[in-house]
Amino acid sequence: MPTKPTDGDELRDASPRVVLIPGLGMITTGKDATDADVSRQLYHRAISVIGGSEALGGFESLTAAEAYGIEYWPLELYKLKLRPPDRDLAGKVVLISGAASGIGRATAYRMAQEGAHVVIADINLRGAEEVAADIVKRFGFKRGLAVSCDVTSEQAVIEAFQSTVSTYGGVDIVVNNTGIAGGKPIEDTTLSDWQRNIDILATGYFLVAREGFRVLKKQGRGGVLIFVGSKNSIGAGKGAAAYSAAKAAELHMARCLAEEGGEFGIRVNSVLPDGVIQGSSIWDSEWREARAKNYGIKPDELEEFYRKRNTLKVNVTPDDLAEAILFLAGPRSAKTTGGVLTVDGGNPTAYVR
Ligand code: NAI
Repeated sequence: MPTKPTDGDELRDASPRVVLIPGLGMITTGKDATDADVSRQLYHRAISVIGGSEALGGFESLTAAEAYGIEYWPLELYKLKLRPPDRDLAGKVVLISGAASGIGRATAYRMAQEGAHVVIADINLRGAEEVAADIVKRFGFKRGLAVSCDVTSEQAVIEAFQSTVSTYGGVDIVVNNTGIAGGKPIEDTTLSDWQRNIDILATGYFLVAREGFRVLKKQGRGGVLIFVGSKNSIGAGKGAAAYSAAKAAELHMARCLAEEGGEFGIRVNSVLPDGVIQGSSIWDSEWREARAKNYGIKPDELEEFYRKRNTLKVNVTPDDLAEAILFLAGPRSAKTTGGVLTVDGGNPTAYVR
């Protein structure tokens, strides 16, 4: 058994796993919350062993050489080698607005599957709690956290980020995804219809992006913002002027923030979905009726209508969007910012030029 480093020994991460702060308590670390909790449990176990040994005549620690021998025992190193490599988002913290349903929910699951800790921020706290609890059940301790957040409230958005930072120590990826639907011909669009779209989609995205940007910049290690726009961010949505104008504002804001974020390593990109009916609650609303009326079809024909309308003749699902968002969130898109990824089955009016 080796008792000191020899040539060729590769030293493993030497960061402390347990930090004791007199008068405050114990902080444990790890590559995810589960690992940090294992350190906590082991330390409590160690404390009780130390207590027991004191009762039996005194506790004596291993020497540094003996400790080295145990940690760098060839069989121990072999066991560690068998661990699967970390997933793309291992150790990352993601906050997703509007993640209690639809695209946001699918993204929360996909990111958790890829190793992230996910904050589900939504005005629908019950829905957010269900998603968070299920993510914890499937992926592990503290891997999901529900936060009540109305994105139109500056205070609520600030508090959502405070909860995230106090739970996980920071944030790495922010997905701006909150959604509502509503479309009326311009003459029927009331000032409050217009204001609601602007408040939730444009102002809400601004508040979440600004708070996310502030945290990322302060942390000083780069980060990612992703905006879920719409085909209507670049294509004219007939009979949906308020929604489309707000969606265009989101896209342009994302591009401006890409420019502001560059020097800090903060990447900002957008995905543009279209016709994601399955799993989306915006299609449970009067939006379905309104869009069907706009196209001169029955509401239950809408899914088929959208499928036939796109170039690839496919239905677009929340999982398709989650995959695109994951790409833009992770290392495989490390050199992309200010970009736009359409996820709409192909729609010439939304081809980026
Ligand atoms: P969804 O209705 O399934 O999910 C939206 C979520 O946002 C819901 O959980 C809702 O509670 C939450 N939300 C609404 N108002 C909020 C507020 N003030 N504060 C915090 N959370 C709030 O909708 P879906 O389809 O998943 O939409 C997600 C995004 O995708 C939206 O930005 C939407 O505009 C965009 N999009 C969706 C398309 C579709 O066909 N489903 C097409 C194009 C864009």
